[in-house]
Amino acid sequence: MNRRNFIRFSALSAGTSLIIPNALAETTQPTEISSDIYYTKSSPGRWASKVGTHLPTVEVSKVNDKASIKVVTPHEMKDYEHYIVKHVLLDKQHKFLDEHLFNPLVDKVPLSTFTLENYTGTIYILSLCNKHDLWLAAAEI
Ligand SMILES: [Fe+2]
Repeated sequence: MNRRNFIRFSALSAGTSLIIPNALAETTQPTEISSDIYYTKSSPGRWASKVGTHLPTVEVSKVNDKASIKVVTPHEMKDYEHYIVKHVLLDKQHKFLDEHLFNPLVDKVPLSTFTLENYTGTIYILSLCNKHDLWLAAAEI
């Protein structure tokens, strides 16, 4: 390859590498969130028989401006074979507030306690099972 061809090839390669990642990025950006990403009591999707063991229960107690949120998923913690991976707390705009990760070798009950100060309105709780996906519940503070 002579010098002129090498320069052309290099310029073409550089241009291609700049274009391809952008094209891939455009095609992989989500445009909307599917309702099949999470399940609820009224919309359990393919896991209709799993509502009772996967829908998290949420108890809120409030003292002055401090809310205590207790979350339990009535699910087994069978080592890493079948367990609740985590609970995630979201605000009324579905923004992340906090999370609690479980260790199925230590945690025998998937129970989380969160504390919020000076918050009013809806909160959302996600509970993730390693086999039966993501479940959403809500509560008011
Ligand atoms: Fe499960």
